[in-house]
Formats: sequence, structure tokens, C-alpha cells
Amino acid sequence: MWPNVASVGINAIDIDHANLDYMFQTISQETEEESFIKKLIPAFIAHMNHEEVIIEDREIQFPADHKNEHAWMKIVLRSLEKELAEDSISSRHFFQEVRSIFVLHVLNFDVNLYSLKDS
Ligand SMILES: [Fe+2]
Ligand SMILES: [Fe+2]
Repeated sequence: MWPNVASVGINAIDIDHANLDYMFQTISQETEEESFIKKLIPAFIAHMNHEEVIIEDREIQFPADHKNEHAWMKIVLRSLEKELAEDSISSRHFFQEVRSIFVLHVLNFDVNLYSLKDS
């Protein structure tokens, strides 16, 4: 059982994170079926774009370092996706990498978004 992902304190973002966490839990518990595992990257990238919109809709400047990190993660995720397609990594390895990128990003970047609300 995976621990639940840390709360950011902004509802719309927490819901997105919970949905992604649910995808990770489902994959880890039930299947490594490739068609499902391949949905992870589009869902993750859609979330990053959505997260930026959620903050900017509040007329808050999205932090540049966080935005750069999103851009970098998209490159890394696309490259993992390519490696999976080429069979250079296993589904399990792919899944573990993507999940750890997600968890670390939430802890190192997303949890700081809440403090922007009052700044
Ligand atoms: Fe983020
Ligand atoms: Fe996020």
C-alpha cells in the first residue's frame, strides 16, 4: 500500500494529485498492463499544465523555478516513455521511476504553492 501523497492545501491541486495517486495505486495493486501504464505520462503532463493554470487563474505568478522543473520533468517523462516503447526498460522500472518523480516533485515543489496564496 502506497502512502497518500502530501496535501498541498489547494483543493483543485489536491484532487489532481489524488487522481494520479489512484492511478499509481491501481497499477501497483492490479496490473502492469501496458495500455494502462501508458496513460500515466499524458495524465501527469496534463496535471502539470493544469496546476499552472490553477495558480495563474488566482492571478498569482507561478514560480519560475517550479515552472522550469515542470518543463524538465516533461522531458524526462517523455524519454522514459520512449524507453518503455523501445523495451529498454521494464514496465515495473518505468512505473517506479514515474511514481518517484511524482512523489518527490510534490514534496519539493507543490507543497510550497499554498504559501503563495497570501504573498
Ligand atoms: Fe508542480
Ligand atoms: Fe502537482
